[in-house]
Amino acid sequence: MSTSLKTPPKPSTSAAIAKADDHGAPAKMKAMVYVSPGKIELRDCPKPVIKAPGDAIVRVTQTTICGTDLHILKGDVATATPGRILGHEGVGVIDSVGSAVTAFKKGDHVLISCVSACGTCEFCRKQMYSHCTTGGWILGNSIDGCQAEYVRTPHADMSLYHIPEGANEEALVMLSDILPTGFECGTLNGKVQPGSTVAIVGSGPIGLAALLTAQFYSPARIIMIDLDDNRLETATKFGATDILNSSDGKAVAAVMKLTGDAGCDTVIEAVGIPATFELCQKLVAAGGIIANIGVHGKPASLHLESLWDRNIAITTRLVDTATIPMLFKTVAAKKIDPSLLITHRFTLAEGEKAYKTFGNAAETKALKVIITT
Ligand SMILES: NC(=O)c1ccc[n+]([C@@H]2O[C@H](COP(=O)([O-])OP(=O)(O)OC[C@H]3O[C@@H](n4cnc5c(N)ncnc54)[C@H](O)[C@@H]3O)[C@@H](O)[C@H]2O)c1
Ligand SMILES: [Zn+2]
Ligand SMILES: [Zn+2]
Repeated sequence: MSTSLKTPPKPSTSAAIAKADDHGAPAKMKAMVYVSPGKIELRDCPKPVIKAPGDAIVRVTQTTICGTDLHILKGDVATATPGRILGHEGVGVIDSVGSAVTAFKKGDHVLISCVSACGTCEFCRKQMYSHCTTGGWILGNSIDGCQAEYVRTPHADMSLYHIPEGANEEALVMLSDILPTGFECGTLNGKVQPGSTVAIVGSGPIGLAALLTAQFYSPARIIMIDLDDNRLETATKFGATDILNSSDGKAVAAVMKLTGDAGCDTVIEAVGIPATFELCQKLVAAGGIIANIGVHGKPASLHLESLWDRNIAITTRLVDTATIPMLFKTVAAKKIDPSLLITHRFTLAEGEKAYKTFGNAAETKALKVIITT
């Protein structure tokens, strides 16, 4: 990806048309704009304005980069088109609200959910906010996102959360996406139980979020599997009982040895490639669950010839962020510390460097980077 700052700033085509300032010029802000596959740039863009009565404009104070932003940069996400301001995680302060917003006012400190929810459609009524018919994951995807000084958040009443005074706002950035994803798609869907055995394939930010939240339920064993020793070392600090580097191709034998040949009750896939989904199928115990979190771009084989009689279940899920209020409480009560995931800090002016650092995690050892605007 480009980290050159030499390209002259161009306005984003997708940002809302800003109001003119006192001199007749549109109000401007800095933002990270997806230019073309492989290329992200810090640009001057029009400051967003309220478009619908349920909107809020949030002055972003802290944001971060997600692995999914790297998928967009690779051109993997068709709905995120060039010109888009990226970012779907962050905290900030309300700058203005539309006429229908009742829960928030100018000056309120808020957490921005990565998923926007109207609260009234068929899917929202089931708390499947990710499938909201007029929302879902749209921020930094089909509409401009929060790696910017300001962001327009649709359905503000349902998609923003009040931040209690005195909270560590930097740590709460992890609640926009990472922690609810690990918890909802991994721990909850995988039905982690007291005394059970859990394997998590992938020790990136999402796998680590599953590791942190799985411990709410006191499983007897949590085995973390990855190719990267540094990430496995981090997993030990986060509470893994066992770590396995699977690059030698012996992970299945090692897990069977650890579990007395039973396999694991919950197997969480947190990578998103066919090889790891297939590995999960070899690790699951009879009666167990494979909870897939990974975003898959290619078909993966399902080995029914060995699984048909094993009484297993497989789940998939796009994060709904329905558990943000509950996760807020666990953080306030110090049951989990999401700030452990933060490894690097940048300013928005250093946004391109932040992408380079995050995109090169094997060398930089980056997990989550905080970008302060
Ligand atoms: N379902 C959802 O709603 C949702 C939300 C957010 C992210 N995701 C997805 O979750 C997945 C994980 O996200 P992340 O940010 O932690 O990604 P990441 O790329 O930072 O981490 C993936 C980890 O998997 C490891 N890995 C790669 N190949 C492996 C292999 N063959 N065997 C074992 N480990 C291997 C890597 O070393 C890395 O530590 C991604 O696919 C992401 O797109 C899903
Ligand atoms: Zn994300
Ligand atoms: Zn809805």
